[in-house]
Amino acid sequence: MIRRPLVAGNWKMNGLRASLAEIEAMSAVYDDALRARAELIVCPPATLIALAREIATRGGLGLGGQDCHAEASGAHTGDISAEMLKDAGASYVIVGHSERRSDHGETDADVQAKAAAALRAGLTPIICVGETRAEREAGDALSIVGAQIEGSLPADAPAHIVVAYEPVWAIGTGLTPTVDDVAEMHAFARERIEARLGGGKSGEVRILYGGSVKPSNARELMYVANVDGALVGGASLTAKDFIGVASAYR
Ligand code: 13P
Repeated sequence: MIRRPLVAGNWKMNGLRASLAEIEAMSAVYDDALRARAELIVCPPATLIALAREIATRGGLGLGGQDCHAEASGAHTGDISAEMLKDAGASYVIVGHSERRSDHGETDADVQAKAAAALRAGLTPIICVGETRAEREAGDALSIVGAQIEGSLPADAPAHIVVAYEPVWAIGTGLTPTVDDVAEMHAFARERIEARLGGGKSGEVRILYGGSVKPSNARELMYVANVDGALVGGASLTAKDFIGVASAYR
């Protein structure tokens, strides 16, 4: 398999130290058989990364941040750099999540700078793209996502970057696109990633689907062509549901 499936949990602004028990439970059931078929990572709030490092590593589980600043350090109160996430124990960082784009006005250029920062620090960026409901209803989903890919991926990015397609209207709503719509978007995304990166790199780039993925629909979504894993929100908060999603690959 050229592209090892990746199942990534995005905890968003959820999780206190007590939640480390869930990461411990995930580590316990992430056995060799599942590890052979899929890579699992959790992106808890930054406050928990250093605390989760040991239990996650012991279980072969990776850790990621949810955002990073473009600079390595400096006068940016409240921000966290990619270097800091790496130092805390992360190997991935989500950039350009739609909640960052809408809550913090992040543009494609901002997202591209953050993805470049992640690569500079030795982290793998998970670059998020996705259309709103209005954009889909207007028939603009492909063009919007195409433009986000063009604007948010550093042109010189290596093939190990990850792109996550998360239709905004599917996040936290229980709604998901049809399998045909996912197939169309992921095939299109791979073409656009190739147009952006060139050199045949797109064949190695993992493209995750995100938006209301849960144990009951994971199998259907994960086996769509060009879907190389999932970015999971709500269903990643407990070991039971997160492993339930990942088990689509068993
Ligand atoms: P849900 O899985 O809760 O819909 O969230 C998806 C998401 O935004 C992951 O980044």
